[in-house]
Amino acid sequence: MYKEIYLDAPNLGETEKQYLARSISIGYVSTLGPFVSEFEKKFAKYLNVKKAVSTQSGTAALHMALYELGIKKGNEVIVPALTFVATVNPVKYVGAEPVFVDVDPDTWNISPGEIEKHITEKTKAIIPTHLYGNPCNMDEIMEIAKEYKLFVIEDATESLGAKYNDKHTGTFGDLGCFSFNGNKIITTGGGGLVAGNNGKRLEHIKFLVNQARGESKDHYHPEIGFNYRMTNLEAALGLAQMERLNEFLIKKRKFHDIYRKKLKDTENMHFQEEYENAESSFWFSCIIFDKEIDIPRLQEELKNKGVPTRRIFMPITEFPPYRTCKKGEYKNSYYIYEKGLCLPSSTLNSENEIYYVCEKLKELI
Ligand SMILES: Cc1ncc(COP(=O)(O)O)c(C=O)c1O
Repeated sequence: MYKEIYLDAPNLGETEKQYLARSISIGYVSTLGPFVSEFEKKFAKYLNVKKAVSTQSGTAALHMALYELGIKKGNEVIVPALTFVATVNPVKYVGAEPVFVDVDPDTWNISPGEIEKHITEKTKAIIPTHLYGNPCNMDEIMEIAKEYKLFVIEDATESLGAKYNDKHTGTFGDLGCFSFNGNKIITTGGGGLVAGNNGKRLEHIKFLVNQARGESKDHYHPEIGFNYRMTNLEAALGLAQMERLNEFLIKKRKFHDIYRKKLKDTENMHFQEEYENAESSFWFSCIIFDKEIDIPRLQEELKNKGVPTRRIFMPITEFPPYRTCKKGEYKNSYYIYEKGLCLPSSTLNSENEIYYVCEKLKELI
């Protein structure tokens, strides 16, 4: 038998301990300290963008991106129906209305054709989510945005390290948002980041997240700000995790390859697919059963064999604040939710454990 199999637990080790110890020994554990700017610089360099601003969470990053771009009451923002709720709530925080669009049945990402159908004179922005680390069709999304003069805020919270046309996700739109929550590709415990090439906008976000603190006079706040900063302790963890990012990405891709190889002959089952010019981060490896299936029961049976799983996100249109949908309107999103499953993807697992997951899955279905 194997040790515990992890679904999405973070991979923390000696490097993380050393960085955290340094943060404590120099006495900077809160929002002051050298690691925050070091982390931001390292991240911007990795993405090959002008600037990165760290935040308290991915949700805060998305909120700041919308706020900075001036999205407000009376505006509409196009979002996928299938995503985590935190893609959409920040649209409401700024007073705008989310407009839900169905996803592509193969990639599970917002469908460019559907985006175009939902554009009105009120539309101001699109938020594509690179779901489970899988890059969206950024060529078509950027073309639509250009034609209709819309902002693009990429929800790259799950896709650190993923590429489209050899370029990092989160670097195509006006601003890209990342999350370092405990289960993400890298973690800072809890944290996020906004990145991009518009230095002026990002400088302003840096100012906003710090209570809009003016530099000319003490305790002077010329705008309404937010306390959305990352702490030095979190950034220390982030720096350590950045050193291991490639190791994590290689491992996640390897796990995905094993799942594909071992499950390829399983009938009525398929994987979330990448576009030809895309490279997923495989934050999660996910499958779909193209048949009648009781997903909660399968999860319970897998759990009894030591295999943790999680369901695909419930379409946002199911939640009371967003219950706008007519039956059948988001059919791909609902199909994926009803028939899909996320498999163990934590980099704490070994390849043998992934083989074991495949074996148990095949036995049970
Ligand atoms: C698609 C998506 N958007 C936004 C977020 C929000 O990130 P955070 O949990 O850091 O606020 C997450 C992660 O939780 C996510 O998966």
